[in-house]
Amino acid sequence: MRSCIVVPSDKSISHRALIFSAISNGRIEIENLLFAEDCLSTADVLSRLGISISLSKKLRRAVVIGKGKFGFTMPRETLFAGNSGTTMRIMTGLLAGQAFDSVIDGDASLRRRPMLRVISPLLEMGARIRGRVARIKGRRDVFAPLEIEGSRLIGRRIVSNVASAQVKTAVILAGLCAEGRTYYREPILSRDHTERLLKDFGIHLIRRKGWIIVDGGRNLISPGRIFVPGDISSAAFFMGYAAISPSTEVVIKRVGINPSRLGVVRVFKRMGVKITFLNKVNSPEPYADIVVKSSNLKAVQVKAEEIPSLIDEVPIIAVVAAFAKGKTQIEGVDELRVKESDRLYALAYNLGKFGIRVDIKQRKTRTDLIIHGGRGFSRPKGMVKSFSDHRIAMSMAVLLARLGLPIEKLDNRDCTAISYPEFWDTLEAVTKGVDYEF
Ligand code: S3P
Repeated sequence: MRSCIVVPSDKSISHRALIFSAISNGRIEIENLLFAEDCLSTADVLSRLGISISLSKKLRRAVVIGKGKFGFTMPRETLFAGNSGTTMRIMTGLLAGQAFDSVIDGDASLRRRPMLRVISPLLEMGARIRGRVARIKGRRDVFAPLEIEGSRLIGRRIVSNVASAQVKTAVILAGLCAEGRTYYREPILSRDHTERLLKDFGIHLIRRKGWIIVDGGRNLISPGRIFVPGDISSAAFFMGYAAISPSTEVVIKRVGINPSRLGVVRVFKRMGVKITFLNKVNSPEPYADIVVKSSNLKAVQVKAEEIPSLIDEVPIIAVVAAFAKGKTQIEGVDELRVKESDRLYALAYNLGKFGIRVDIKQRKTRTDLIIHGGRGFSRPKGMVKSFSDHRIAMSMAVLLARLGLPIEKLDNRDCTAISYPEFWDTLEAVTKGVDYEF
């Protein structure tokens, strides 16, 4: 069976394209923007800050009129980031240095996600942010809603202990609104879309000895047009489907292949999956058509240093690992506890329903996920649970489809609209071996 599909546009780049356009000067056309709930939350927050954004879902295009770094108007009500951690964390960095106060909130899942990681570097820069201090699942942290008192920020040396592109972006944007220089260092390189896209807006961040250096006072200049390639995190579900389905080939068109996002490709290749890139385009955000073919799978070891480059792909990697003979060990996955759901628990719960043994090993300094694969599957009793988490839902849907089980076995299937509204139609096409474009 063979199908050729397109997947939705990159979520991380779409959020950044909207936000950077809003704080640049002039008109920007964003082509191939992701029209999914998370990015619409960002567009909504920016509109409530007085930014004109015209969206055409049919053309997958947004036209944004940027008003400069300090061109926002004070919002009249609470800004609502929905389910989107990226919207909340990045916007907090930008709102901290404005001349007005604001409040940002999210849905029940976002209200349970830790915000101290973004608040604490901003406080060092002089920000004033208050949230709900609570202990959730044994971790004391600060949670939304966040009250942000606009303040004058000062450039500082910030050393972060999490490799998070959201935190990095928040600090870079705060640094651009601050007085003086901001230095930022992260333990492992997280996705670098911000650094790449800012170049299009005339901001060349300096990288020196592991530090990113941001000069305050610099203004963003409109690039006129931005093109957003397909999202490798969405492509990964169909790469995974092809990997576990005999005699199957899937071609995925125009997918972003930024090296800081390619961990899933490297791991699948180590497992024995045949993956090739065709028609490569070398723009600042490179993209290519990805061809994936099934093959015999073997278990692998994934090191903690690799996690930032495949952070959102662990659920689908775990599903593929269930088909690979042996013990796949994914090290240092602690961050998965605080995503849209506790993804470690969700994976152990769901794969366990199919008779797959999954261990969550708490070591001294890190948590590992171990999948014992290649031993066959039992028919799940009762419902498979999405935990209202789009990536858990899509990973489990791939498993059900591969085993020929009805997708009705999965609860709350609508949550895929967070990042991938066309997922169900695409899955149907791929299982039938037909092409799918939208
Ligand atoms: C994102 C960064 C990652 C990722 C998320 C999107 C971004 O989160 O999991 O889906 O666009 O910056 P962290 O920064 O928390 O690792």
